[in-house]
Amino acid sequence: MNDSARLPVAARTPLPESRLPHVGTTIFTVMSALAQEHGAVNLGQGFPDFDCDPRLVDAVTRAMRAGHNQYPPMAGVPALREAIAAKTEALYGHRYDPGSEVTVTAGATQAILTAILALVHPGDEVIVLEPCYDSYAPNIELAGGRVVRVPLVPGRFAPDFEAIAAALSPRTRMLLLNTPHNPSATVWHAEDMRRLAALLRDTDVLVLSDEVYEHMVYDVAHQSVARHPELAARSVVVSSFGKTFHVTGWKVGYAVAPAPLMAEFRKVHQFNVFTVNTPVQHGLAAFLADPAPYRDLPAFYAAKRDRFRTGLAGTGLRLLPSEGSYFQCVDYGGLDAHRGRSEAEFCRWLTTEAGVAAIPLSAFYDGGFEQRIVRFCYAKRDETLDLALQRLNARL
Ligand SMILES: Cc1ncc(COP(=O)(O)O)c(C=O)c1O
Repeated sequence: MNDSARLPVAARTPLPESRLPHVGTTIFTVMSALAQEHGAVNLGQGFPDFDCDPRLVDAVTRAMRAGHNQYPPMAGVPALREAIAAKTEALYGHRYDPGSEVTVTAGATQAILTAILALVHPGDEVIVLEPCYDSYAPNIELAGGRVVRVPLVPGRFAPDFEAIAAALSPRTRMLLLNTPHNPSATVWHAEDMRRLAALLRDTDVLVLSDEVYEHMVYDVAHQSVARHPELAARSVVVSSFGKTFHVTGWKVGYAVAPAPLMAEFRKVHQFNVFTVNTPVQHGLAAFLADPAPYRDLPAFYAAKRDRFRTGLAGTGLRLLPSEGSYFQCVDYGGLDAHRGRSEAEFCRWLTTEAGVAAIPLSAFYDGGFEQRIVRFCYAKRDETLDLALQRLNARL
């Protein structure tokens, strides 16, 4: 035995510099923990508290029993890719080739990261429209890209095309858009899509269109970029079965894009997740044969939205429009007792004192822009919404 073998060895964990030094615990985790601690109704986190259609569970169970339990093809089970292509064509009039233009992903989250890693090079600029979903900026940073933040018009949350035009530069690689929009619940209209197409016409800017709430649009038709040929030609469109079929924990979504973009997407997908849960894919393919579940979704959620809005009408909260998604934003600036509070302070008060958790809009802005607006999620059972309303009406 030599000397060094006899000496106690201090185990040491080498820690490289963080790839994401600014990322910490999100407000969603903080508010959910607070909600649990205080027995608050959690209208903060964006997921349903009701179950999915039992026929979907049956379809997945059947797939498992039928032995669909090994790796599927890298891009996804062919029947599911065909079903996605057929649905997209039926709804938006654009045919994506299931062989080369559709890929099944582990939720929209993976699709967004994969698209960014595949298409954004170090030093490229990517425009995000704030407020925005929290994964976008860290994903761009991981790719070595530079996040260029352009605010949606405060209060209305409509795209500000002059500001977008001013943000475009020769280094702009991509623009990320999200309709229906989390957190504001606004949607893009046909005119917005036309203006975006005109703005990008003479550029090589790609679009990453996050359409996870595509089946939750209430008074107008959903404007997928897939409806607009000029935009479709430069876009990766992302959606989520988790959102559409009330199965957020299954983490299955998809991306569709023109073949040359999808080829690059698949290079990253192949060495990232490689493939996605086989029986769930078979189950979804069978379930998609009937369009009723997603066609009926707007009526289902519009009823919840209207119940929630009607119940809030007696409070001093000002309701912003909820045109799509399952979120309702409210402005508490009219409440003398609360207008001096920051959004995070108001959410803390709501959770600990009123017993209902919400999310501050400032959490969706870099640097925390304050406008006295907070977000509730109404994807909840009617009893849950009624309990929340009872508590809010008692205190506001
Ligand atoms: C705007 C937006 N994009 C993407 C996602 C992630 O979707 P998935 O659960 O399919 O990964 C969410 C989930 O909340 C979202 O709100």
